[in-house]
Amino acid sequence: MIDSDALLADALELIAAASDREALEAVRIASVGRHAPLPLALRAVGELPPEQRGEAGKRLNEVRQAVEARLAERQAELESEALASTLANDRSDVTLPGRALPHGGLHVLTQTRREIEQIFLELGYAIAEGPEVETEFNNFTALNIPDDHPAKADSDTLWISDGVLLRTHTSPVQVRVMQSQQPPVAVICPGRVYRRDTQDATHSPIFHQVEGLVIDEGVTLAHLKGTLEHVTKRLFGQERKLRLRSGFFPFTEPSVELDVSWGDGWMEVLGAGMVDPNVLEHVGYDPEQVTGFAFGMGIERIAMLRHGIPDIRMLYDNDVRFLAQFPA
Ligand code: DAH
Repeated sequence: MIDSDALLADALELIAAASDREALEAVRIASVGRHAPLPLALRAVGELPPEQRGEAGKRLNEVRQAVEARLAERQAELESEALASTLANDRSDVTLPGRALPHGGLHVLTQTRREIEQIFLELGYAIAEGPEVETEFNNFTALNIPDDHPAKADSDTLWISDGVLLRTHTSPVQVRVMQSQQPPVAVICPGRVYRRDTQDATHSPIFHQVEGLVIDEGVTLAHLKGTLEHVTKRLFGQERKLRLRSGFFPFTEPSVELDVSWGDGWMEVLGAGMVDPNVLEHVGYDPEQVTGFAFGMGIERIAMLRHGIPDIRMLYDNDVRFLAQFPA
């Protein structure tokens, strides 16, 4: 005799005890799977005496339906419990502010160069560029730098071949501009320059300059002074005081050095002067007709002064902890 009530009671008990979907699957296999007691009992119905088969088969099928219904119910319960727990645990608070992604920015030297360019563009200057590999003529001779000048020595200049070198300043771009156009001229020439220097806190064999050149009829030292005053106040603050000291550059006469007030003292910021008549003659301009001023500034130096950067090498180390202090 098959005890279908006991089969039902066992199966329901197991189903009730299944606490997750995996356990319930095991219960399904154990209660209605191919080798479980209930299907085995159903298969055994055929061996019962004929008069018992109808009743037993009917009863066992009812049990099987009841078990399967209960399995489905329990399955649905467990699924909704699992969903509820996912919703409770993985909840996102959509009112929280977004997380900022890390992003790149302009290098502080690029920012400084662009700021300098912007100041001059607003004054009506054009931007001119020249090659980093230059001729000895453009870098030295046309700029009135004599052959015995220390800057021409092998110890200061990186020579490529006879008469060809890595430019030691951006001043040769002046020469190229004047050779290619007639006055009036108002240009700045930003770019990379090379010197045979050993690196230390204030020297680098590669650095950047911005050259400036204005040529026209009647240009005077007063124009140079007014221009530099405007530019340095824009760069360092309107409250700064300026001081022009006499200096010496072979390509300007007179030559000046510009200092900006710094706490109780002064900081040298750039070199400048009135373009030497010899330079004008070298490029075919008539010094009786036109005059002009020129200036040259180091971009690294300006960035270091403005931001209090103590060592030029920090500008090339590419340490993001340093660079991130100048967001742009
Ligand atoms: N070429 C100079 C240097 O590298 C900087 C400079 C000084 C440029 C005076 C000028 C100038 O045009 O007038 O040190």
